Amino acid sequence: MAEPLPVTPLFTAEHIAKRVHVMAEEIAAAIQRQVMVVALLKGSFVFTADLIRALHHAGMHPEIDFLGLRSYGNATVSSRKVTITQDLSDEVAGRNVLLVDDILESGRTLSYARNLILARGAQSVHIAVLLEKPGKRAVSIDADFIGFSTPDQFVVGYGLDYANRYRELPYIGVLKQH
Ligand code: IMP
Ligand code: MG
Repeated sequence: MAEPLPVTPLFTAEHIAKRVHVMAEEIAAAIQRQVMVVALLKGSFVFTADLIRALHHAGMHPEIDFLGLRSYGNATVSSRKVTITQDLSDEVAGRNVLLVDDILESGRTLSYARNLILARGAQSVHIAVLLEKPGKRAVSIDADFIGFSTPDQFVVGYGLDYANRYRELPYIGVLKQH
């Protein structure tokens, strides 16, 4: 297997943990209802695992489901088409959904997910992302809750991948050579 490329740390594990707890408090204060967390796979699984435990501390008791979407393939350039790789297992009709993703860039992935969930009859959709790249939107969509804004560089770790690797890093960093 190829050796990992160097990664320059951007957000440490401690920094992320603190922010995730504050985000959970923000979410609990803003959405005073029962929510269904819909985690977009694969990138958001690490963030979601920490976020739901922080939501517990903030007094929430969410349902959890997963939606696998692919928009990137194995490259760092966003492609235009989003496809479902794994559908939801639960009914979203009538639910207040909190969509969770790792990063909001062009907005195509979250826009696709939001439209799908609304088309299936969700009562409301809020969006929480760990990272956001400002000025990169190709479609008009905003997140309700954002962990950090990040520079226009390719980042990996804490669930974010390059070619399905680097997700295991406990911190987020910039992949060299991108
Ligand atoms: P969007 O559809 O362009 O908003 O891209 C969102 C998806 O692209 C995310 O869910 C990530 O999987 C992936 N992505 C975008 N930027 C990065 C990055 O810097 N590192 C790793 N994955 C990224
Ligand atoms: Mg990805």
